[in-house]
Amino acid sequence: MAKRILVTGSYGQIGTELVDELRNRYSGENVIATGRKKPPEVLTEDGPYHRLDVLDETQLHTLLVELNVDTVIHNASVLSATGEKNPQLAYRTNIQGSFNVLEATRALNLDQVQIPSSIAVFGPSTPRENTPNDTIMRPTSMYGVSKVAIELLGEYYTKRFGIDFRSLRYPGIISSEAMPGGGTTDYAVEIFYEALKNKKYTCFLRKDSMLPMMYMPDCIKCTIDLMEAKEEDLAHRSFNITAMSFTPEDIANEIKKHIPEFEIEYEPDYRQDIADSWPKSIDDSVAREEWGWEPEYDLESMTKDMLEKLSERLDIEY
Ligand code: SER
Repeated sequence: MAKRILVTGSYGQIGTELVDELRNRYSGENVIATGRKKPPEVLTEDGPYHRLDVLDETQLHTLLVELNVDTVIHNASVLSATGEKNPQLAYRTNIQGSFNVLEATRALNLDQVQIPSSIAVFGPSTPRENTPNDTIMRPTSMYGVSKVAIELLGEYYTKRFGIDFRSLRYPGIISSEAMPGGGTTDYAVEIFYEALKNKKYTCFLRKDSMLPMMYMPDCIKCTIDLMEAKEEDLAHRSFNITAMSFTPEDIANEIKKHIPEFEIEYEPDYRQDIADSWPKSIDDSVAREEWGWEPEYDLESMTKDMLEKLSERLDIEY
């Protein structure tokens, strides 16, 4: 039987492209896009869209039952920088929202739930290079705290109630469609827009601030691959994944290969503290071993593709 997948946060940076690819694979009507606000047109073109606030438990249960959903991908989340500005909002949206989704999964006996985690689960006491899958998780941001809580709650629900919970610790995601909002790694997307539009960019992180990253096609691939993985192959429920690591200076130099006049300046702000508490590089061998994860894009191929896609969409030649 075809899956019936409900996606929350479906017009966020990842949700927008994920819904599109899920609809290609499982057909439009089987992928239900949801969000709190009015959806962009593209989400209502090829399949159903419903308003949903995950903090409203009744609305969540009703939708899941009425639409015959068996799988939830719960992407609605407040990211790291917004979470530091408004920790109470991050707590409610991320922890209470995910708890509601886990409870609905249990009560309605759904087949599977996937809730994203992040490199933000790690903190200053974690080894920062080649950070292992199973290591110290004592984050210092509210976003990180909320993602650790989600992993632990999901794993508890799996052990205690037998639900099928899965989670990916996304690194910074670079994409050419929807903008990210309120994250610490957002600079790696903004830089492309500014390089094309203004040939210069002021970066809110230091030039040597190395972070793990991934291009959107790989992000969509690992999300769907994990969803499709056989449950018996999974010894873990929460997985490190990465594709590359670079600094703002590295990506600026890569962009300069295509746009030689491009200039970058650095004015680190409060987001630098968040970046300094996160890993520089990630060991994702557990994901590779358990469900065959392998990224396709590195800094060079991602930069070339991003500039091509974005210049076409913005109609700017370079
Ligand atoms: N991109 C996210 C953030 O910066 C990391 O999970 O908040």
